[in-house]
Amino acid sequence: MLENKTVYLNGDYIALADAKISVLDRGFLFGDGIYEVIPAYKGRLFHLDAHLQRLQDSLTAIRLANPHTFDEWRAIFTPLLDASKDQYIYLQITRGVAPKRDHAFPEHIGPTVFAMCSDIAPFPGKVIGIKAVTIDDKRWQLCNAKAITLLANILHRQDALDQGAAEAILHRGEVVTEGAASNVFIVLNGVLITPPKGPDILPGITRDVILMLAQNNGLACKEDTITLAQLNAAEEIWVTSSTREIVPVIELNQTLVGTGQPGPVWQRMDALFQAYKATL
Ligand code: PDD
Repeated sequence: MLENKTVYLNGDYIALADAKISVLDRGFLFGDGIYEVIPAYKGRLFHLDAHLQRLQDSLTAIRLANPHTFDEWRAIFTPLLDASKDQYIYLQITRGVAPKRDHAFPEHIGPTVFAMCSDIAPFPGKVIGIKAVTIDDKRWQLCNAKAITLLANILHRQDALDQGAAEAILHRGEVVTEGAASNVFIVLNGVLITPPKGPDILPGITRDVILMLAQNNGLACKEDTITLAQLNAAEEIWVTSSTREIVPVIELNQTLVGTGQPGPVWQRMDALFQAYKATL
């Protein structure tokens, strides 16, 4: 049963049930597109400029022109929002509908643009912590682009769920990259560490906000490589994303992280994050 809500598709606001695209859309045939997830707290879009800059970077990475200006994007999202709720905008742009299936970029077609708004579901793990498992990162070398081509991510997440965990923490060899749908932080010897930006991770907006809050509030932090040995030795592990914010990992590969409770640095950062959200 579909939710009864209005969505945006290629210039029109229509009922979700009426939102249809062609089977020749390159998003459907090839996963040829990118997306964004932008939180909106009580109708206010959170760090919209940063999300739209990352959208631009993703479009540039797949050689697709941005169909709208920043102001036009804001105008497109606004009618979808409900000022009484915490929600997120899901935006997807594909290369569009070509007359036939061909790997090469088609000429003279416009992109398919779809946006909808959903409520941010309460996530108990955010307060009590979650279990995570480490999984070999089998994705490609363009993880910095927010591509809709998410098959590897969903297989990794499902592997974690099948093992009774809520998130997969991915690694390439000895080096930790990120979660299946999140960035990773650890606290090691009192210092907050997250892997540096690069082709192996999505440059998370939540990640940037946490680094900014750490710097502004005198918390020791750095962007640096995290090895599996450091992950295993960490006092605290967090996974972060726009829809779940900052989630403490209390068990890794069936071993307690620290005391097996959300740690004091997480408590501090979560309080800073909630206070910061309220100021915007
Ligand atoms: N995913 N890394 C990956 C692979 C992600 O999919 C996400 C978020 C993040 C965190 O980025 P941000 O803080 O900007 O949300 C990192 C979104 C929420 C999703 O795919 O639904």
